[in-house]
Amino acid sequence: MGFAGRDVLSILDFSREDLEELFSVADYMEKAVKEKRKLKLLEGYIVALAFLEPSTRTMYSFQSATHRLGGYALVFSSREATSLAKGENYADTIRMLDSYSDLIVIRSRYEGAAKYVADIAENPVINGGDGKHEHPTQTMIDLYTMKRLFGDIDGLTIGVLGDLKYARTIASLLYGLTRYKPKKVYLISPSILRIREEVRDTITRLGLPIEEVSSLRDIIGELDVLYVTRIQKERYPDPMEYERVKHAFKITPEVLKDARPELKILHPLPKIDEIDLRVDNLPYAAYFYQARLGVPLRMALLALVLGVWR
Ligand code: NCD
Repeated sequence: MGFAGRDVLSILDFSREDLEELFSVADYMEKAVKEKRKLKLLEGYIVALAFLEPSTRTMYSFQSATHRLGGYALVFSSREATSLAKGENYADTIRMLDSYSDLIVIRSRYEGAAKYVADIAENPVINGGDGKHEHPTQTMIDLYTMKRLFGDIDGLTIGVLGDLKYARTIASLLYGLTRYKPKKVYLISPSILRIREEVRDTITRLGLPIEEVSSLRDIIGELDVLYVTRIQKERYPDPMEYERVKHAFKITPEVLKDARPELKILHPLPKIDEIDLRVDNLPYAAYFYQARLGVPLRMALLALVLGVWR
């Protein structure tokens, strides 16, 4: 299925072929930016960025991607700055955004928010993160980064570590990995931060070769990729629950002493204190490279969804 006119709500809506097409367009975009070619694919297009939750990378890389393609981004970054604060209902606000732009990117703390917007809007809608549910464009970046680093995702041994329970980047990444054939995916977390039942059921049904472990030390020597997330403080209904887990893990040079030389550490960012700052300077750290790929990847996605890529 082509991308033109499609909503991007869940990574599960995309096949391996879709992702491969996206990655090859991202390669083109990266090269064009590097060569300082002025692309005009989105000239005359307006993209609405509705970010109702904090964001650095997702919002600014979508904005940068839009501008790099010659388009214009309308940024709507807080409820307080709009008529929502006067009591306007969400549906009316969405209708306005839809009529003032050609595509909406939405981030919200509510699960299902992007789907809700897509049901009202006529133009395509991209999910920039909905609560603990999904963050499909981050996964596109994550998979693209693995491809760029290793040439292929098939055959990799991948560890995911962190807040597996509440990080939407983890749920989407695991769903996205079902489109490939990794050798093994270790889910590393203390028992209270294990993935939610619905995520486990989906990836098991789709045949992802997972194993849940509680200690990184036992398996660090097997990993090609270690994907880390922060503890998602804002999603804890009970502050005491957060207090109990906030220092549950930390990646230090010592923890990495048994790692393979090829290991790459990915992180969707922001990182808080789960990765020791000394790790930033080790060859394992690939998270800044990963964040940089967010712009060409999102350029590719916008061009494909808006139907201007031929
Ligand atoms: C992530 C998010 O918003 O889910 N950030 C991002 O988009 N790169 C990760 C996080 O907040 O931990």
